[in-house]
Amino acid sequence: MSVLLYGAYGYTGRLIAREAVAQGLSPILAGRRPEPLNEMADALGTPVRVGDLTAPRRVRAMLDDVTAVLHCAGPYVHTGPPMVDACLETGTHYLDLTGEMDVFRDLTTRDAEAREAGAMVLPGIGFDVVPSDCLGTFVADRVPEATTLEVALFAQGTVSQGTLKTLIEQMGRGGLVRRAGALREVPPGWARRTVDFGDRERSVLSIPEGSVVTSGYSTDVPNATAYLALPPIVQSVLRASRYVRGLLSWGPVKSLLKRLVELGPPGPTPDQRRQGRTVVWASARRPDGERATARLHGPEAYTFTARAAVAALQRILDGTAPPGYQTPATAFGTDFVLDVQGTERTLVAASS
Ligand SMILES: NC(=O)c1ccc[n+]([C@@H]2O[C@H](COP(=O)([O-])OP(=O)(O)OC[C@H]3O[C@@H](n4cnc5c(N)ncnc54)[C@H](OP(=O)(O)O)[C@@H]3O)[C@@H](O)[C@H]2O)c1
Repeated sequence: MSVLLYGAYGYTGRLIAREAVAQGLSPILAGRRPEPLNEMADALGTPVRVGDLTAPRRVRAMLDDVTAVLHCAGPYVHTGPPMVDACLETGTHYLDLTGEMDVFRDLTTRDAEAREAGAMVLPGIGFDVVPSDCLGTFVADRVPEATTLEVALFAQGTVSQGTLKTLIEQMGRGGLVRRAGALREVPPGWARRTVDFGDRERSVLSIPEGSVVTSGYSTDVPNATAYLALPPIVQSVLRASRYVRGLLSWGPVKSLLKRLVELGPPGPTPDQRRQGRTVVWASARRPDGERATARLHGPEAYTFTARAAVAALQRILDGTAPPGYQTPATAFGTDFVLDVQGTERTLVAASS
């Protein structure tokens, strides 16, 4: 049984490849450019496969004897479909690192096809959406017939070029919440509140985070909102962006911003990764006041992502890969997040 990392020489792909080898796996490193792949293979002693996503037969051939693909090349709104097609044609499990709402939504529509192929389709196996999905499901499981689920994220540290480019790709899109069981588009920064992250209360703004979609599969809770802790100035800019959505959606503006991003560093430095940390808060409640609230303290977001992705590959290689569309919690259970070394979960409050 083998696993293939596509986009292995990107910033996050490299972290995952190194983590996988450190955990005793020998992933096949893949992507569209041979030079960086060969360089990594020399350093890590792993096999290499080269294939462009625009060549479907080549992509299928790359997956021939592979158990699972971890797709590390985003933005997934562009790169996801050809890899998912190839996985479903070859019966290969598909995992990715998406945080893009459209990708989470589109992949839910491939559930029947994936079941028929005997393949698991599991998007968002990074910081987005493993902690929010697992912790949200953990609190929802403690409040029977909960009607409201809220999740809030705090991440200390910087982001990679790939993440910035993916965010730019999504610019101009509004927010997303779930109400009465259905996804509902709302303006950017639609809701605001404060959340106790353990060290202190922080102001958080609603964002279209993956758990808004995944909690519709992981739980029965009909209303879900996700939030991110952001400095007040960033919150104001985000809320104001609703007035210039047309401009932000305009292709030339996005291309210019992506070129500017390329002038910056590829991602957090090793020191920044060591110093960064994340806290996720989740609360489920019922109208009669019954509620459960929990917090998860974890490593910096890219370290978290690499560890979560490798933990998922290990679960698959150990034989756990239910076919069809899955979330981290439906595939591996709510405790899966505790496989991520350095995470600690606390049940803060449970009332009845
Ligand atoms: N869920 C999470 O918490 C989480 C965490 C980390 C990253 N991410 C996401 O993961 C993605 C990658 O992030 P990153 O930091 O690794 O970015 P990155 O350093 O820019 O790497 C992106 C990789 O994707 C490849 N790629 C892009 N478009 C491609 C295409 N059309 N065909 C083949 N390969 C393509 C690039 O290859 P070339 O150099 O050949 O173009 C590169 O190897 C982003 O979408 C990011 O948002 C999510």
